[in-house]
Amino acid sequence: MTESFVFGGRQTAISVVIVTAASYPRFLKKLGSAQVAWLEQNQFEARAGKLLAIPDADGNVERFICGVSDLADPFAIADLPMQLPEGLYTLEGSGVKANIEALAIGWGLGAYQFTRYKNARRKPARLKLPNSANHPHVQETVAATNRVRDLINTPAEDMMPQHISAVVGEIAQTHAAEFQEIIGDDLLTSNYPCIHTVGRASVHPPRLIELLWGDKSHPLLTLVGKGISFDSGGLNIKPSNGMRSMKKDMGGAAHAIGLAQLIMALELPVRLRLLVAAAENAISSNSFRPGDVIQTRSGITVEIDNTDAEGRLVLCDALTEACEEKPDLLIDFATLTGAARVAVGTEIAAFFSNDKELAADILDAGEQVSDPTWQLPLHRGYRSLLKSHVADLQNCASSPFGGAITAALYLQGFVDNEVSWAHFDVMAWNNRSRSGRPIGGEAMGLRAVFEMLEKRYK
Ligand code: BES
Ligand code: ZN
Ligand code: ZN
Repeated sequence: MTESFVFGGRQTAISVVIVTAASYPRFLKKLGSAQVAWLEQNQFEARAGKLLAIPDADGNVERFICGVSDLADPFAIADLPMQLPEGLYTLEGSGVKANIEALAIGWGLGAYQFTRYKNARRKPARLKLPNSANHPHVQETVAATNRVRDLINTPAEDMMPQHISAVVGEIAQTHAAEFQEIIGDDLLTSNYPCIHTVGRASVHPPRLIELLWGDKSHPLLTLVGKGISFDSGGLNIKPSNGMRSMKKDMGGAAHAIGLAQLIMALELPVRLRLLVAAAENAISSNSFRPGDVIQTRSGITVEIDNTDAEGRLVLCDALTEACEEKPDLLIDFATLTGAARVAVGTEIAAFFSNDKELAADILDAGEQVSDPTWQLPLHRGYRSLLKSHVADLQNCASSPFGGAITAALYLQGFVDNEVSWAHFDVMAWNNRSRSGRPIGGEAMGLRAVFEMLEKRYK
């Protein structure tokens, strides 16, 4: 992929003037009468979605003018990379400098194309950024988000546990991080029985993938991701329409990987631990079954009520492992329940937390970077819905209501009360296209969490 950005340098770039309803009258005063007439004849208005080329006296494009409603919105100009002709551009206009990082991130996100299996229609327009902009922040935020998108968009056949592992291995190498993994039957001998149980029916063995990075004296931040490379539902097989999108069921892992990449690239002063529980929830003669009772790493026994509630199973072993190191902060990401989508829709990252301050910080940060999140309650009263007659717990609640909450409560049963924890239940997919957010895999809550982490640790 060609880079979206050029930083400083002498390369000439075509100017795009960004105007709001408030700044437009002042801009008009700077123009000659011919150009003002041009804008009027073309009925240009300073509002979102309006874009017009302004010619010079010879009829060549002198610059472009683009209307926006909110300069602080990272997606305000995210359509430009595909609307403008191929080439190099630079932004000007009142208020642009103060919001350059947000606008540039939107530009980079809007330039994304998934080109693994077919050629791009065209190259996106590129953006030249002034030396004053925080280049690494822009570049790496876009790279991390596009990494998440690529991971999710790649079909299951090409994004099995071994492929996820290869990606984590590459990222570890880039950042001189430690990498290790436990594969297949070794998960049994090392006591990760749930990850093994969920993944054992696949010809692609399940894995617990781990990356470690940073100074050991820094606060320990552990990220955990649900990496179900494909969720058929198992023996409780999903109907066709439900199964259709399940290549994205490693979306939580994609988020954890993308966030880890961003943390390392921008050298956040933390000790980072990434745990990805990767497995394919497949159907075979050795699939786990409804009614089976399985051991977990923590020693809690779980009765399988429904093999389609597999995410919480792989996660519970990873969360137990995570808590053994007593991290200062533990965050997991998962495409865990359809119920979370019923609760907040597909475009808001639902999260749960056992730490009020952490939850408030995530909500605030999300608002600041236009990456919407919403907290749902870990309502203790619903814990009794997870009771089993034959085991300590069952993997599904006896009531379908509040399904995202009961799933989160299940996970909480494996998290040390003293560990500050947030659990994200995300869609990881754009069902419709919006500026800078094409249909397909998407990072949701990633920029919010990174913003929160920067405030805490930078
Ligand atoms: N991966 C799905 C959840 C999912 C479905 C997320 C659609 C996003 C969109 C998960 O493994 C699952 O199947 N969950 C079940 C749980 C139920 C059996 C308790 C669900 O949500 O229906
Ligand atoms: Zn499932
Ligand atoms: Zn799943």
